[in-house]
Amino acid sequence: MDKKQIKIGFVTVSDRASRGDYEDLGGPAMQEWISNALTNDWQPVARLIADEQDLIESTLIELVDQEECCLILTTGGTGPAKRDVTPEATEKVCDKILDGFAEQMRAVSLQYVPTAILSRQIAGTRGSCLIINLPGKPSAIGECLEAVFPAVPYCVDLIE
Ligand code: MTE
Repeated sequence: MDKKQIKIGFVTVSDRASRGDYEDLGGPAMQEWISNALTNDWQPVARLIADEQDLIESTLIELVDQEECCLILTTGGTGPAKRDVTPEATEKVCDKILDGFAEQMRAVSLQYVPTAILSRQIAGTRGSCLIINLPGKPSAIGECLEAVFPAVPYCVDLIE
């Protein structure tokens, strides 16, 4: 992540927030966490979409292939509910799955809430982009990112 100007994608996956039933808190929470963690210049590319697998896949593809994001964080849609399909969409668009990210995020999250076991969040790479799923609760965003972020810049450099 040494390039002067990098793009980071922030994808909120939520039926209700995308309908306007409530405010998207996850997108801003992810951006705020990253702005505190990174010192170099970066540009956000934010999307708020419904829990539709095709839409999640096409959004991730657009952010990687057109916008050339080097990192994408998603929030929401990782649980066991019928409409939760973010991990399926992520797996479909990735070339490689990095199991260690999910293992670590769940292990650390279990220290906060026993329901962390319900998240099927994954991480993987598509081309030169690292994609990481985060649960939908705003508090989960920092809990998960703190657990894996030390490995993120190195990973992004490796896949460049
Ligand atoms: N992980 C952390 N760190 N903190 C949380 O509060 N919530 C859990 C889990 N992982 C949680 C967490 C809950 S209650 C659910 S249902 C799953 O994430 C899936 O959430 P999602 O469908 O909003 O992605």
